[in-house]
Amino acid sequence: MTKTTTTVNGLGYRESGEGEAVVFLNGSGDAFTSTHRVIEMDAPGGTSPHVLRLLLDDLSITSANIVAQGEAGPCAVAFAAGFPERVRRLALIDAESEVVPGGLVLCPVLISGGNAGALSGIGPRARAAAPGDASEQLATFLAERLSSFDNRELRTAFGSFITGVTIVTTAGVDGTPRGFTANSFTSVSLEPPLLLICIGKSAASMEVFRQATGFAVNILSEAQKDTSVLFASKRADKFEAARWRPGPFGNPLIEGSAAWFDCARYRVIDAGDHIILMGHVEGFSYSDANPLGYARGHYITLGLEQAAVNAASSSGRTVVGAILESDNRLILLPDPARPNGLALPEVGREAQHGSASRLHELLQREGMDATLGFLFAVFENPDTREQCIYYRGEALLHARGRTVLADFEEIPWDRLPDEAARAMLRRYVAERKIGRFKIYSGDHRQGTVKAVD
Ligand SMILES: Cc1cc2nc3c(=O)[nH]c(=O)nc-3n(C[C@H](O)[C@H](O)[C@H](O)COP(=O)(O)O)c2cc1C
Repeated sequence: MTKTTTTVNGLGYRESGEGEAVVFLNGSGDAFTSTHRVIEMDAPGGTSPHVLRLLLDDLSITSANIVAQGEAGPCAVAFAAGFPERVRRLALIDAESEVVPGGLVLCPVLISGGNAGALSGIGPRARAAAPGDASEQLATFLAERLSSFDNRELRTAFGSFITGVTIVTTAGVDGTPRGFTANSFTSVSLEPPLLLICIGKSAASMEVFRQATGFAVNILSEAQKDTSVLFASKRADKFEAARWRPGPFGNPLIEGSAAWFDCARYRVIDAGDHIILMGHVEGFSYSDANPLGYARGHYITLGLEQAAVNAASSSGRTVVGAILESDNRLILLPDPARPNGLALPEVGREAQHGSASRLHELLQREGMDATLGFLFAVFENPDTREQCIYYRGEALLHARGRTVLADFEEIPWDRLPDEAARAMLRRYVAERKIGRFKIYSGDHRQGTVKAVD
């Protein structure tokens, strides 16, 4: 095992091993050099968060685990609270209690011995080490997952927020245009005019954006789904494949966007696995094109949905229904109009017009807790002259009641009310197989089908 000794700000430190970095303040990391990059620093009487920052900068370590013994405890806590992005985990061994000014440590904290539990500033993820071998406990702690959540689940939950879609561009320092698709856009302030966007640290263009003196945000229109896919890719020729022009502040503006903002850099803020780019708007413009939407990993064309729904509700009787799945089976209800007949859950065939809220009431009465997803079809039924609007979604059955659950391979086609319902369900079954749903508008034979995947 080789150890190199260097100094930072007059304090000596030793370095050995490879892997995730662990800084031992006042202690030996010998037991970890085969698995980790170990940095040992003696800090008699403690050290300061400033020195710790210099140490990590000196070693080009973006974030490290910190193991602090005795007097170094309060300083390590202050560092973890003040620079959360630089500390992965914090272990306090026989650490002293002391009031730490400001901040809260949000990373996992292991407290072994001492009275660090009484330290102010220790956040909700702190726990006392169980009695036993201290070195083993530390090894387990250093191997633990950082996040207390399943990140895929967290991403899905974040995705419930419906957003627009933007392309963020910059001319870069050498004038080579760079850009990526982003839905993390937020308008921030009118006075001064500010907006923000977040870019992942793993994005190929992150460093260019971090250093750029400005950037533009292009808000995409419904017709620009392909542009969104292009700029979300790793293609090197994004700007050859797109139509664009330089904006007033020099950053690329994508032709056909619903709006654009050309910005000067206002602030760059480090935030976990992303950086926040805050821009000062130098110029902007917008058109009346419908903006493209995005939710739960799918593009949504709000304008199309609204236009189709408006068209349908403006003439004739409106029927609102749903193609609902429960445990991968289709939900049907007895059709009151035909003995032995079945129909999709729907409202509006009787005297009153159908509406989404009346459909929800029906589903509740029938013992279902349903989530209506996206619009699936809007058409006029030629047999009944009704305007039909169907959503797709999922349902949880509280009570079986009158519901009939049909396997998708064995849909009782001859018990369905008419050809319009059969045609719509056939398309649903086909699109479900490939996991790519479209919106259909027209009548049951001719009409347009728009992709909304
Ligand atoms: C709808 C959508 C929204 C996205 N939003 C963001 C975002 O806000 N921030 C981000 O860093 N990446 C976002 N991405 C992913 C980037 O576009 C993608 O990682 C891209 O490859 C980055 O380009 P680059 O690696 O060439 O820099 C999004 C992708 C899609 C499809």
